[in-house]
Amino acid sequence: MITIICPHCQKQHNIDEKKIPPNVRMARCHGCRQQFPLEIPGRVAEVATAVPAVATPVAGSQPATLPKTRRIGVSLSKGGVGKTTTSVNLAAGLALAGKKVLLVDTDTQGQASFMLGAKPKGGLTELVSEELPPAEAVVQVRRNLWLLAGGKSLAGIKRLIDRKDYGGELTIGQALVPIEKDYDYVVVDTSPGWDPLTVNVLFYVYELLLPVSLEVMSIQGFGEFLKSIAAIQKFRPEVELRYILPTFRDMRVKKGGEFLDYLEKAYGDKVCDPIRYNVRLSEAPAYGQTIYEFAPGSPGAQDYRTLIRKITGEPDLFK
Ligand SMILES: Nc1ncnc2c1ncn2[C@@H]1O[C@H](COP(=O)(O)OP(=O)(O)OP(=O)(O)O)[C@@H](O)[C@H]1O
Ligand SMILES: [Mg+2]
Repeated sequence: MITIICPHCQKQHNIDEKKIPPNVRMARCHGCRQQFPLEIPGRVAEVATAVPAVATPVAGSQPATLPKTRRIGVSLSKGGVGKTTTSVNLAAGLALAGKKVLLVDTDTQGQASFMLGAKPKGGLTELVSEELPPAEAVVQVRRNLWLLAGGKSLAGIKRLIDRKDYGGELTIGQALVPIEKDYDYVVVDTSPGWDPLTVNVLFYVYELLLPVSLEVMSIQGFGEFLKSIAAIQKFRPEVELRYILPTFRDMRVKKGGEFLDYLEKAYGDKVCDPIRYNVRLSEAPAYGQTIYEFAPGSPGAQDYRTLIRKITGEPDLFK
């Protein structure tokens, strides 16, 4: 037995450490219901090794050793910055490049299915709750592209996470790890705001891609989100901010240029070439089409292809 004191309300918990599942990093206090980091003497952090790492030759600043499946979270607490547009067109573009891709929607809005013109009968909720076997929860939506849909039912997962005393933050990862080996990339779209599902995504992915809208984003809002990521990194240092993707670039607006200059000075080659403002990107979802299907020659399609070249480290893709 060990004694753990809640840092929020100081309630003392006497617990049998053998009953705490491995890899757990957070606990929930029975008194105040707040979460706090769990440190069990003698226990080694193991989340990062949930999937065996293999050496992968990669370009740029990427670490030399990555798990076989790349797990990329697309996240930013600010709404409407292009997270879902980026998740869908990143995943679809990688699939066109011949990679096997699983797109996971962790947003109750369920927009990823809509953008791909898919109406799956289940998705992430059914996978996590085991209501459907993985082969039915995951649906193939294009060649090389599979979808784990989000939507309103995700509220049930949030409740499930809230009820867990330990390891609520690992809920989504535990459902994804057994199936991810079938894919080269898992791309995870997140909701705006900061909810238990986003925290779960940050405990699953290794790489983060942050779309920042040059139209609406303030340096302050961006900084706030970085602080939230830093708080998670204290418990899970394996999650890394890899890509900052400026979106809604309007060549006529000087302001966007200033914010972009700031990003480039502060974050160097993490900053990707911007996605320009392109009305074709906003029209494509109504047809259930990706930008490559709807307007393959548009600036939006060109910009997302450039992003895919950077992320794969394959400069000759699509040429
Ligand atoms: N580069 C762009 N140019 C023009 N319109 C865009 C661009 N990127 C996204 N849009 C449009 O902007 C709107 C918001 O984009 P999107 O839904 O991808 O943002 P989001 O960050 O996922 O939003 P939320 O936070 O609500 O989930 C959508 O209507 C989308 O079609
Ligand atoms: Mg979205």
